[in-house]
Amino acid sequence: MSEARKLHVKSYGCQMNAYDSQRMADLLAERGFVETAAAETAELVILNTCHIREKAAEKVYSELGRIRKWKASAEAEGRRMTIVVAGCVAQAEGEEILRRAPLVDIVVGPQNYHHLPALLDRAERGDKPVDTEFAAESKFDAIEPAAGGAIRRRGVTAFVTVQEGCDKFCTFCVVPYTRGAEISRPIEQIIAEVKHLARAGVREVTLIGQNVNAYHGEGPDGRTWTLGRLLQRVAEISGIARIRYTTSHPRDVDDSLLAAHRELPQLMPCLHLPVQSGSDRVLAAMNRRHGRGDYLRVVARMREARPDMAFSSDFIVGFPGETECDFRETLTIVDEIGYAGAFSFKYSPRPGTPAAAMADQVPEPVKNERLARLQAAIDRNQAAFNARCLGTTLDVLLEKPGRRPGQLVGRSPYLQPVQIMLPESRIGDIVPAAVTEIGANSLFGSLAGETSRSDRSASLLAVGS
Ligand code: SAH
Ligand code: SF4
Ligand code: F3S
Repeated sequence: MSEARKLHVKSYGCQMNAYDSQRMADLLAERGFVETAAAETAELVILNTCHIREKAAEKVYSELGRIRKWKASAEAEGRRMTIVVAGCVAQAEGEEILRRAPLVDIVVGPQNYHHLPALLDRAERGDKPVDTEFAAESKFDAIEPAAGGAIRRRGVTAFVTVQEGCDKFCTFCVVPYTRGAEISRPIEQIIAEVKHLARAGVREVTLIGQNVNAYHGEGPDGRTWTLGRLLQRVAEISGIARIRYTTSHPRDVDDSLLAAHRELPQLMPCLHLPVQSGSDRVLAAMNRRHGRGDYLRVVARMREARPDMAFSSDFIVGFPGETECDFRETLTIVDEIGYAGAFSFKYSPRPGTPAAAMADQVPEPVKNERLARLQAAIDRNQAAFNARCLGTTLDVLLEKPGRRPGQLVGRSPYLQPVQIMLPESRIGDIVPAAVTEIGANSLFGSLAGETSRSDRSASLLAVGS
C-alpha cells in the first residue's frame, strides 16, 4: 500500500468554520488523505479563515508567512505542498490573496468547498484556481451522508449545520457578504446526519447556523418547518441525549422555539443570544432592528418557558458614535440579565460595511478602557453564576480525559467544563456530579448518588433575582 497522503486543516473563527473544516477532511479522506497535526510535513494544507475582525483576517497572512518556509523545504526535498485558503477571507479577498501570497495554490469560498477534489486536480496541472462565485448547487447536497457516507464521528458531541448565511445586515458585520443569503438545509438531510452521528455514538448535537433560529427549511411534508419544529423532531432520535443550537438572533425567537424549551428535556437550558449593546441609540445605528426593551422581553419569555435558562452574549464596544452614556447602558444590561458568560470585542471597521464609513469612530484608547470595564462586569457575573452551582448536583456529559490522570472532563447543561475522577470507560455517559469546587476555568465534581435525579438543576439558576 502506498503511504497515506497527509492533510493539515487549520480552522479559524466560528463553529460554522469548524464544521466546514471537518467536512473538508471527510471529503478528502475519500481521496486517501489522512489528517496530521504537523503542517510542516503535510502534502495539503488548508487554512479555513475568518474575516470577522481585522485581527482575525490578518492571522491568515502571518500563518502563510510561516508556511512559506515549510513549502520551500518540502520542494527542496522534492515533495509537493499544496496550500489552500478557504473560508471567509477567501470569499472576501479572492484573487487578492494570490497577489499578496503567491505560495497559495487554491482559493475557495465557504459555499464551494465541495469542489475541492476538482480544484486539487486543477492545481496539480499547474492552475491556481479561485472559486468564490456563490455555487448554484447546494453544498449541503454534496456533504449529505447519503451522498458519500463520509461524515466521521470525532467525539461524543458534534456540530450539525442546519442554516447558513445572513439577511440581517448589521452595519458592522461582514457575514452577509462572506456567507451570502440565508439558506436552510432540508429537514430530511439534517435528520439523516443526526441519525448517522447517533449510530456512531454521538450523545449531544449542536445545531448551528449564523442565524439558527431564522431556520425555515423544507419539511418531509413539503411545508416550511421552524427551528422549534426541527428541535422536536431531533429529540425523537434515539441515542441523542442533549440538543443545543447556536447562534440565535433576538428578533427570531418565536412561539415554536419557546414551546420546544418548555417541552423538551433534551434541549439544554442554555442560550447564546447576542445583544451587542445595551443602548437603543447604538442598537439602531447597528441596524439590529430591536431595542433594549425587546431583548429583555425575549429573555423574560425564555425564562418563563424554562426557569433555569442561562444566557450568554456577544458585545461590541466602541461602535462609531458610542458615548460613555451608551456604554454604561451596556454595563447595566450585563447585570440586569446576569449572564453566565459572554464574549466582548472592540469594534473593528470592516471594508465595505456601512459602519466603517461612519463619522465619530471611537479612539483606540477609549475602546481599550471600555473593553476592560465590560470584561470585568462579565467576569463578575460569570463568577456569581458559577458560585451558585457550588453544592448543587449537575448532569455532566463525560467527553474526554481531564487535566489530571484518572480524571475526565465533561460539560454541565450550562456548558461549564466539569472535572471528575472517573475511568475512561465512562466517556459518553451522563452522570450526576456534585459540584465541590469552583476553579478559574472549570468546576470540580464528584459522582453523586443516583437519588434525587428529578429536578436537580431546576431551581438553580433563576438569575438576576
Ligand atoms: N450571527 C451571529 C454572530 C456573528 S459574528 C450573530 O448575529 O450574533 C460573532 C460576533 O462577532 C458578533 O456577535 C459580534 O459581536 C462580533 N463582531 C461582528 N463584526 C464585528 C466587528 N466588525 N467588530 C467587532 N466585533 C464584531
Ligand atoms: Fe452579522 Fe448581524 Fe448577521 Fe449576526 S445577524 S451574522 S451580527 S449581520
Ligand atoms: Fe468568521 Fe466567517 Fe464565521 S467571518 S465568524 S468564519 S462566518
